[in-house]
Amino acid sequence: MFNKDVYVRRRDQLRKKMGSGLVLILGNNESSVNYPDNGYHFRQDSDFLYFFGIDIPEFIGVIDIDNNVDSIYANDVDIASIIWMGPQPKVSELAAKCGVADTHPFNKIFDLTKDAISKGRKIHFTPPYRGENKMLLQQMTGIDAHRTREYASLELIHAIIGIREIKEACEIVEIEKACAIGYNMHVTAMRMCKEGVVEQEIAGAIEGIALSGGNMPSFPIILSQNGETLHNHYHGNTLQKGKMMLTDCGAESPLHYASDNTRTIPVGGVFSQKQKDIYNIVLKALDDTIAITKPGVTYQSIHLEAARIITEGLKDVGLMKGDTMEAVKAGAHAMFFPHGLGHMMGIDVHDMEGLGQTYVGYDEKTRPIDQFGTAYLRLGKELKEGFVITNEPGIYFIPALIDKWQSEGINKEFINFDLVNKEYRDFGGIRLEDDILVTKDGSKILGDRIPIYTDEVEKIMSE
Ligand code: GLY
Ligand code: MN
Repeated sequence: MFNKDVYVRRRDQLRKKMGSGLVLILGNNESSVNYPDNGYHFRQDSDFLYFFGIDIPEFIGVIDIDNNVDSIYANDVDIASIIWMGPQPKVSELAAKCGVADTHPFNKIFDLTKDAISKGRKIHFTPPYRGENKMLLQQMTGIDAHRTREYASLELIHAIIGIREIKEACEIVEIEKACAIGYNMHVTAMRMCKEGVVEQEIAGAIEGIALSGGNMPSFPIILSQNGETLHNHYHGNTLQKGKMMLTDCGAESPLHYASDNTRTIPVGGVFSQKQKDIYNIVLKALDDTIAITKPGVTYQSIHLEAARIITEGLKDVGLMKGDTMEAVKAGAHAMFFPHGLGHMMGIDVHDMEGLGQTYVGYDEKTRPIDQFGTAYLRLGKELKEGFVITNEPGIYFIPALIDKWQSEGINKEFINFDLVNKEYRDFGGIRLEDDILVTKDGSKILGDRIPIYTDEVEKIMSE
């Protein structure tokens, strides 16, 4: 945990942003795999970690706005649990570590919420995403479990986003720890990427590095020689010469902050000229968008700049044609770059996505664009100092999408379908991703930069 002052300050910030009522921050429970006592790796709720820091199941945090008191509802472990799990700190000792003096047994939460409802007090909660917490909210509020998300507090959602989106120095330290683990994951993948190796061997080895680093991967590892499938979790292929392996992975730091990087490397260690040509377009889109990432600029405009760079590059190799800005306006680049440039990152790899992507990534001034491709942009609004984001441009050759666009004549004035089909249909996909802190007047890559220039990658792969 951080020092207790960090949690006290965060709760005070939240209190100042909220009008009145009772804020419930529900921690997570254990989640069963195939029978009740066989659980998945426990992951605490990110808002609970942010405001209370206790990384143990079955805790509820309460921030009483009206009475200026913070409380924890949880049970001390009983003798049976001590026998199986060893001695555990008391709830009051854990609560003290995050600056909370008021603690109660778990079931007392029902008395609290019943009393609040009887007095007409507002109960604020975030959108629940796990079944147990939906049912718990039903028990507390009477709202049907399936409809509890609809009753999440918009006031609370906006207040939390306003605080969590600006990263504190202690959070940057954690993210850089996650980046260091991610660095080792990627460099290991580079060294293992040889013809004849099964993808799963590499995916398993790098997942082990995340686990050894203190926690778990920040999301299920994407690793495939079929990188044109954007989130490819199938790792059953044997690596073939001539293909490229796309690895998109990151780790959680000991306090659960994320890293998220992507590298795409040639199986066997040497880029062909054709691979280099496409790779260097993606690299330019990454480097140039990092260079213009700074406070006051909308991320939507940076995404569109990536689209422009990709369109220019694809025109240079003959895959696109026509006026660049017209092509971007028409969304023609999205056949090759069908996703957003990036997203916020913090305790969640897609930070705060559970609160609602549009609330996190957009505001009244910047609204989502619903054109194919840009519609997947998770973050569009103006950047502020202290945001942590990832930039992850890519170029992909997706046969099903190529066929659809060609048969329907979509953007045929901007795409050279003959060349796409004749020479690039089996190319795969390239994505490159770095984690970036928005600084006072620019931006900075977090962690040591994982080898990315083609000569650096070839050197590491030859070791
Ligand atoms: N890098 C994986 C993702 O952002 O979804
Ligand atoms: Mn990402």
